[in-house]
Amino acid sequence: MRLLSDLRAIVGDAHLLTDTELKAGYQTDWTRRFSGEALGVVRPASVDEVAAVVRACADAGVAIVPQGGNTGLVGGSVPRGGEVVLSTRRLRSLAPVEAAGEVVAGAGVVLATLHAHVASAGWGFGVDLGARDSATIGGMISTNAGGINVLRHGGMRQQLLGIEAVLADGSVVRRMSALRKDNTGYDLAGMLCGSEGTLGIVTAARLRLVPPLPVRAAALMGLPSVEAAIALVDAARRDLPALLAAELFFEEGLSLVVEHTGVARPLHGSFGAYLLLEVADRSDPADQLLAFLGDRDDVVFATDVAARGRLWELRERHTEAIASAGIVHKLDVSVPPARLAEFIRRIGPALEAAVPGARLILYGHVTEANLHVNVLGPPAEDQAADDAVLELVIDLGGSISAEHGVGVAKAAWLERDRGAADVAAMRAIKRALDPQNIMNPGVILGHER
Ligand code: FAD
Ligand code: MLT
Ligand code: ZN
Repeated sequence: MRLLSDLRAIVGDAHLLTDTELKAGYQTDWTRRFSGEALGVVRPASVDEVAAVVRACADAGVAIVPQGGNTGLVGGSVPRGGEVVLSTRRLRSLAPVEAAGEVVAGAGVVLATLHAHVASAGWGFGVDLGARDSATIGGMISTNAGGINVLRHGGMRQQLLGIEAVLADGSVVRRMSALRKDNTGYDLAGMLCGSEGTLGIVTAARLRLVPPLPVRAAALMGLPSVEAAIALVDAARRDLPALLAAELFFEEGLSLVVEHTGVARPLHGSFGAYLLLEVADRSDPADQLLAFLGDRDDVVFATDVAARGRLWELRERHTEAIASAGIVHKLDVSVPPARLAEFIRRIGPALEAAVPGARLILYGHVTEANLHVNVLGPPAEDQAADDAVLELVIDLGGSISAEHGVGVAKAAWLERDRGAADVAAMRAIKRALDPQNIMNPGVILGHER
């Protein structure tokens, strides 16, 4: 096929994968719920190669699925059938950290690599998440990833100072200068952020860094109810200036993690809700957290890296523990904070009515009222559980995608959430920038009507 030989000429033989076995890892997503066959997997090593690949695909009328670490959880990173997967993993350039606390990173740089790089220069990066060893900067920009430190530093969009990206016609937009104020026209970086590969391919970004917060303490609490946990989080936001993270989980998920990982149960007995708080500062914030906890029972307190790591494992290994139990329906949602307890109270009965016997596991980033709703039981293609959860979210004035994106998993729900006018505006942008609809078609907007 002419396109494949063109792509081979652009990236070299070793970086165009067409063998079934070599393509396999790029064709199925992290959840194993979504997969499709790619025409080929192409791995460009520079922005010029990305632009040439895009032009070749546009000429051939073949669609492109950009892929970074393939840790996305909404099916947007894998082909639906017949597309070229453009892997960014070779776009790994990482410039020295600038004195003003900024760094330019290639799209394929892995989050943990970025953290280590900026830490060695005395800085921190504001976004962190459980997939840190695989998720890439380009993928995180494209999904506007959130994670565990949004309360303190915001999500990916807040870290983005500039972007380089290849659009659907192969043109390169680049605004990477170190300007602290820049109001010249449309904010292309902000628009590409969260566009899930539907408007262009991010090849590099200029990122804002944050002061390092090296001294940390964490506490895991068992609480009688979700209402008690939420009240404590509200107080922590007010009384704990060093608060960096607040994570909520429940017995169902904790039991699965303990069973799957062999990590010891941290508290005796079982509780209505578990809350993990972490404080971080330049000087020791442990006393601040201890004073906040007072003489409360049912707390495990940790300061050293290993002990804190053990507490964090209980929260962060939910994702893999659930995946080991089956193909999960993942619904990453948020609701207005005042309605979080109501959502948690109503979600079980709503799901049971739609899919009797389904197994429900909830956890999430509680300061943003961002809950990860995980449902085990229904077959991968069955939408009944997804629909029941999203219906309740809409009913409560929430969002069907808090941080993972819409992908293909929730495209059918976009209009219910955003309304017809918003979706029409999004379609107009998409048509203007990608008239051939070759950039990750089907993702976010579903298939064109
Ligand atoms: P991919 O999965 O490869 O792609 C994701 C989407 O972005 C796809 O639509 C893809 O087409 C597009 N894309 C990728 N790279 C580019 C590019 N360079 N240009 C244009 N489009 C591109 N997410 C959170 O927000 N918060 C969390 O706390 C969190 N924790 C996680 C924990 C685990 C264990 C796992 C498995 C996932 C978690 N995620 C979380 C989801 C996932 O890690 C994020 O969505 C992440 O941003 C995806 O990065 P990636 O490089 O793997 O992107
Ligand atoms: C998390 O916070 O653990 C992630 O967003 C992944 C998940 O939802 O499992
Ligand atoms: Zn999350």
